[in-house]
Amino acid sequence: MDNNAIDWGKLGFQYMDTDYNVRCYYRNGEWGEIEVSSSNVINLHMAATCLHYGQEAFEGLKAFRGKDGKIRVFRMEENAKRLQKTSDGILLAKLPIEKFCEAVKKVIKLNERFVPPYESGCSLYIRPLLIGTGAKIGVGPADEYLFMIFVSPVGPYFKDGFKATPVCILRGYDRAAPLGTGTFKVGGNYAASLVPGSLGKQMGYSAVLYLDAKEKKYVDECGPANFFGIKNNTYVTPKSTSILPSITNMSLQQLAKDFGMTVEQRQIPEEELATFEEAGECGTAAVVSPICRIDDKDLNKSYEYSKDGKPGPICTKFYNTLRAIQYGDMEDTHGWVTIID
Ligand code: PLP
Ligand code: COI
Repeated sequence: MDNNAIDWGKLGFQYMDTDYNVRCYYRNGEWGEIEVSSSNVINLHMAATCLHYGQEAFEGLKAFRGKDGKIRVFRMEENAKRLQKTSDGILLAKLPIEKFCEAVKKVIKLNERFVPPYESGCSLYIRPLLIGTGAKIGVGPADEYLFMIFVSPVGPYFKDGFKATPVCILRGYDRAAPLGTGTFKVGGNYAASLVPGSLGKQMGYSAVLYLDAKEKKYVDECGPANFFGIKNNTYVTPKSTSILPSITNMSLQQLAKDFGMTVEQRQIPEEELATFEEAGECGTAAVVSPICRIDDKDLNKSYEYSKDGKPGPICTKFYNTLRAIQYGDMEDTHGWVTIID
């Protein structure tokens, strides 16, 4: 792919081949060196545990090119830590934080020409993947693993960019069990979201908002992102045993405090949705995606935040501040950014 041929303005959130990916194998109880590959395929044993027993974890983070031409990667140590937590959660071999960060830096450097220009507003999405490759027929963890990272230049996750979109609650589906794998970034959670996600899309919603699976009483999160609501100068976001601890959400909570807002991480009963002034989704891919309306399809109820799709002022402030830090336009007072040189 000739990167001069990329129409950055039209770039959505899609996979694109780049020059290289990096790989690291776990064999005989230890991690090997980071290897560089220019192939987009992997050789896999048909009995690998990732294929049969879901021993698969992934991560998502982004790198940004600043006005100064420098490349900044956002909070990669947090992704490294979360991958370790996920590894504990589904018994994957644990990758050291330093190895994760070394691999992220390496894969960005190798694909530098794919980091979109500052003016494009696009970024380089970085997708680390950790899979059980050892062959097993009985249910149990593998003894061999492959960690790899590929990258892809991306535009906005939701096709209209920074615009408020509607989401729906579909009570016939759960994403993750209360004490299941919802807090880990494993493929199975996303498999569970495919049917409701595509039903939601068919009905014109950008995402599904899941309720807690046990009582169907509290707000959990969206298929690809965490949820937050804003009211009375307060940032409210769910506390739940079945949602992914989002690094973007963690960052927004800090920014909310910086803005002088109160932060509440607690259960959010569905009825409370009626009291928010603004609501949004947040995540690496979603960034800050304002929600214009939440429809509870089974109860025939709606909660409206924006009539014309215009993002609210607090969502806009979060979006602008987060992006300014990521692109290096605003001082990184919390030490969230690593410059790749
Ligand atoms: N929740 C889910 C289910 C996700 O897939 C993601 C994306 O990574 C998030 C939340 C947001 O997490 P983060 O902000 O760390 O990207
Ligand atoms: C991310 O935001 O990095 C995600 O993983 C969300 C989605 C693309 C699965």
